[in-house]
Amino acid sequence: MREIDDDKLGLLLKQTGGMVAASFNCAITVLGDRLGLYRALGKLGPSTSSELASHLQLHERWVREWLHQQTCIGQLEYHADQARFAISPEAYAVLADEDHPAYLMGGFDSALAVFPAVSKLEESFRTGIGMSYDEHGPNCACGIERMGAFTKKHRLVGEMIPQLPGMHDRLVAGAMVADVGCGGGLATIALAQAYPATTFVGFDTSDVALQRARANLAEAGLENVRFCNPFAEPLPKDPTFDLITTFDVIHDTPYPQDLIAQIYAALKADGQWLCEDIKGFESFEENLEQHPVAALLYGFSVTVCMNSGLSTADGAGLGTLGFTQQVAKTMTQQAGFREFQLLDIENPMNNYYLMGK
Ligand SMILES: C[S@@+](CC[C@H](N)C(=O)[O-])C[C@H]1O[C@@H](n2cnc3c(N)ncnc32)[C@H](O)[C@@H]1O
Repeated sequence: MREIDDDKLGLLLKQTGGMVAASFNCAITVLGDRLGLYRALGKLGPSTSSELASHLQLHERWVREWLHQQTCIGQLEYHADQARFAISPEAYAVLADEDHPAYLMGGFDSALAVFPAVSKLEESFRTGIGMSYDEHGPNCACGIERMGAFTKKHRLVGEMIPQLPGMHDRLVAGAMVADVGCGGGLATIALAQAYPATTFVGFDTSDVALQRARANLAEAGLENVRFCNPFAEPLPKDPTFDLITTFDVIHDTPYPQDLIAQIYAALKADGQWLCEDIKGFESFEENLEQHPVAALLYGFSVTVCMNSGLSTADGAGLGTLGFTQQVAKTMTQQAGFREFQLLDIENPMNNYYLMGK
């Protein structure tokens, strides 16, 4: 090994120290969300620790230290002339506004939820066998649901369905739709609200996700939706559905080629498959040089996505960035799909593919 360059060491130490600070920040940010601290600051405007603590009936000393940490990490602002702390509109969008496209709290939830998995992952590096979604517990599923909520609530019906030829009219008239890997069911619920004459089935192999989906459904009070576990009720083997959707499922699932074949079999001859999956380059080298959030996505991959894709001994383990456009085209063609289209839907994280028979 060559000798240590002190300048480079100083830079690396600074960068790595920032990462350690970010790891602590993950827990402290989730606390800010759970305790309503960001939302309260947004409502109150610039506040002292006493004002914020008394508004939320919290202990002032804890709130003060939280404010100090949040300011030093750059998520809050400090107005030194008044000794008050504030949340900027941008930070509010990212940390507190569930209906803003930049909302990222679900990312913190998911990241924090994987920390207890470290011992299990240590073993996975030796055995090759990863963890199912359910082994992470409810917070990971909840974080993933929150991360994708904006798209489902605000873009799916108005922006995506119109890109599927003739599908709006079919759904208005009454059709059969499946969301495979439905997670917390938000896509199904958004579509079911918009298209009451259509019947929706959400499939998910995770019981934790299905619990979330059923709770969300009860809140929405819809009659045209049900959720099931394909281990108990597999996708139908005959052409049943006019539309099948998958949102960030194929790269996660242990047997993606089998799942694509099941989707093919369950689609009607004129049915359509709308597939959201992670946007990435075809090679690691391109991801390294050009992908704006490659480090975040590889982080997700080791702990959640590839982990889940390798949860069985013969799992494919595609990884978060593994279902690239080229891989998607090849695998769907192999299953029999003759139509493959990259839809014109802008999203920094995901691509949208439309497949037909
Ligand atoms: C990244 S999560 C996405 C959840 C949801 N679609 C969303 O966008 O919030 C992937 C989901 O796919 C589910 N899943 C993986 N393989 C599956 C399979 N073969 N059939 C049904 N669900 C599956 C997992 O349990 C997990 O809930």
